[in-house]
Amino acid sequence: SRRGLLLGAGGTGLAVTAGAAFGLGRGTAPQPDPEDLLHGSQKIDFYGHRQAGIETPAQAHAVLIAMDLNKGIEGEDARRLLRLLTDDAARLTQGLPALADTEPELAARPARLTVTFGFGRHLVKLLNPDKVPDWLKDLPEFEIDDLDPQLCGGDLMLQLCGDDPIALAHARRMLLKDARAYASPRWMQDGFRNARGTQSEGSTMRNLFGQVDETVQPSKDEDGKEFAVWGHPPAGSSPSLRPWIEGGTSLVVRLISMDLDGWDELARSGKEASIGRDLRVGAPLTGTAEHDEPDFDAKTPLGFPVIEDFAHIRRAHSQAPEEQILRRGYNYDRPPQGDGRISDTGLVFLSYQADVTRQFLPIQQRLAEGDRLNEWTTPIGSAVFAIPPGCAPGGYIGDSL
Ligand code: HEM
Repeated sequence: SRRGLLLGAGGTGLAVTAGAAFGLGRGTAPQPDPEDLLHGSQKIDFYGHRQAGIETPAQAHAVLIAMDLNKGIEGEDARRLLRLLTDDAARLTQGLPALADTEPELAARPARLTVTFGFGRHLVKLLNPDKVPDWLKDLPEFEIDDLDPQLCGGDLMLQLCGDDPIALAHARRMLLKDARAYASPRWMQDGFRNARGTQSEGSTMRNLFGQVDETVQPSKDEDGKEFAVWGHPPAGSSPSLRPWIEGGTSLVVRLISMDLDGWDELARSGKEASIGRDLRVGAPLTGTAEHDEPDFDAKTPLGFPVIEDFAHIRRAHSQAPEEQILRRGYNYDRPPQGDGRISDTGLVFLSYQADVTRQFLPIQQRLAEGDRLNEWTTPIGSAVFAIPPGCAPGGYIGDSL
């Protein structure tokens, strides 16, 4: 049905509609074009006040590309680069080849491709030194970190997401080709979630520890998302969060390695205790369904807390109205590194919020000070980016700076 297709298509911003596909006008016999119904044909609007790829229901695959601007690049060069990359992204996300595309056939099926731009401190400074937000810098060092400098920072970040790894690989190559006169790759990381169609739309993903991950999000209602991601307080409440620029937000990237071999040694009950939720459906240990509210005061018959003091969800749980983040993570799974382990696995943890200092940092601080998960997880990469607003046709990402 039209409704089913629209829901299946993931809601807002999607350009393919069943009306178009079935030719729902009067008179002519409606003939669906089977090609239009494939996941590959689905497109997410590129132009708009806000960039796509943040609230867009998460696609199955992602590639993050962090680049450094080449020596000698100045504001005008940076603007030229952003114009070029905006043009590429606008075309590729709509199933059109980039200018001088060497493999145009690979662009034909974007499969909900989005390209989201993030700016490091150096780039914002080049574009408009008055606009650099205070929080746009490296996070403070945490004791749990074992950061590889090669997996940190960057002047320009492109978050590519899509349901088809081929479209993604092609977009990555075209964007890098066009960027290379101005910038060089600093780090790159790909990731994946459940493949499209393997579970019903809107289900919460699982990470490679087997946990249901990203249940608690600020997006439960529209007001919550506006507040947490875009800094717009709900009507009637006093404003306490402001975006660094209207239509913009921030992204914290943490590459977190997950010790699956160590995790394997834990009994199921230990795994569940460390997070405070069950593995079967992701219900809090005080409930039965995924979205049940955890009861942090509940005690066992012996008087111990049912959700342990250092369980991940107790430590991560919001302690203030503004302490909310939109998580949009991806799993990674690389070949073993020859250290005797059979996997090199982790999470590309992506957190969107209006203000890094007031929203992300207090949560990260608490987790760094005490979280049972820390025994099996180690942050190895870290970066903070200012996410500029989207742009209108004819404009480019960053033009409002
Ligand atoms: C909740 C896994 C790192 C913030 C959860 C949940 C899981 C999980 C399974 C419970 C379900 C849910 O609501 O999503 C992990 C893993 C991590 C990790 C495996 C590292 C590899 C982090 C980091 C942060 C964070 C670095 C932020 C600094 C949160 C928040 C919640 C949460 C805010 C919701 C807490 C609540 O119930 O209110 N995480 N997480 N997590 N996590 Fe993590």
